[in-house]
Amino acid sequence: MVARDLMAVVDSLHTFEEEDGLLHYWGISYGSLLGATVAALFPDRMERLILDGIVNAENYYHHFGIDIDQLLSSDDAFRGVLSDCLKIGTSRCALADINSTAPELEATLLAMVDRYQSNPVAAAGKVINGKFVKEILIVIIKYPTGIVPLATVYIRSLLEGKNLDGVVAFHTALYNAVSMGDNDALTGIACSDKVIRATGPTDQKLIDDTNHMFNSTKIFGGLLAGIASQCAEWPLEGRGKYTEHWFDEEGRPRVIKTRKPILFVGNRYDPVTPVKSAVAMSSVFEGSRVLERDAFGHASMAQWSDCTAEVFRGYFGEEMVLPEDKKVCEVDVGVFDVGVFPG
Ligand SMILES: *[C@@H]1O[C@H](CO)[C@@H](O)[C@H](O)[C@H]1NC(C)=O
Ligand SMILES: *[C@@H]1O[C@H](CO)[C@@H](O)[C@H](O)[C@H]1NC(C)=O
Repeated sequence: MVARDLMAVVDSLHTFEEEDGLLHYWGISYGSLLGATVAALFPDRMERLILDGIVNAENYYHHFGIDIDQLLSSDDAFRGVLSDCLKIGTSRCALADINSTAPELEATLLAMVDRYQSNPVAAAGKVINGKFVKEILIVIIKYPTGIVPLATVYIRSLLEGKNLDGVVAFHTALYNAVSMGDNDALTGIACSDKVIRATGPTDQKLIDDTNHMFNSTKIFGGLLAGIASQCAEWPLEGRGKYTEHWFDEEGRPRVIKTRKPILFVGNRYDPVTPVKSAVAMSSVFEGSRVLERDAFGHASMAQWSDCTAEVFRGYFGEEMVLPEDKKVCEVDVGVFDVGVFPG
């Protein structure tokens, strides 16, 4: 329904002379799914589409409301940030002097998750358990510009069991602003969008999807896999659902030709939308390109890059300039930089 709304907006705007009646769009994360859906519905009206932080639409619509490949890069991202932490030192990373190698530091943090999971601690009216600790840990890989140095201070507090009230305040401030996938808005959208319905409480597909998600990451599986079981219970169906498949049983893409080629964008260390999904979705859309950023965080705004800005300007320009497929862009801001927001 929302995908169709995009075209309703285009139609309304078309009454103005300078509008061309075609879609010019930059869709991030769930917006990339909306963009792919509207492109599949109205391929002839796609004038400029940048899809950024890609959700695999086949996974999303034809599983229980989760893209089971979403977390494929999250462990690599976590390791990458810890290794940068050791390089940058204690002036910007409060965890830099705990162990001397990144794998050791990772082991220390995972042991901490287990410790809080088996012995939860109450602080400031909340329970700090393993899931809570993971929700703090994922911050350093999901929102890398600006917030990481501060987040490491709170991770250290968790390690030492100090200032837990402060940790809870940090968690509350963060999660009031962003969803972790366990609120009703997200379930209402994702669970209504999905095409399949559960056949019963032990639906094998649900068990497979949950295992797949846990297998795809050692660290963060539990943060999203729960959506699958919530969706399996969801009774409501969205209106005007998009039910077509994007890939056949053998994984071959169904090919869609849009008016102008789509530009797909992925970060190599995006913890929730891996480049693999950008490549998969690009295979569905004829002539589309993939821009791969050597970057951390979710979608392209997580770390500034002049190279990316130049590609976007060229793409949206009057004479559409497409990058070569699989072009790689470096970024200009480090994970541990503070107060640097160029552009
Ligand atoms: C890493 O640091 C933790 C916490 O100080 C310590 O318990 C552990 O032994 C260290 N690991 C190694 C391999 O030194
Ligand atoms: C997940 O891993 C377990 C244990 O390694 C394995 O038995 C299971 O088949 C895997 N499941 C999926 C869906 O990959």
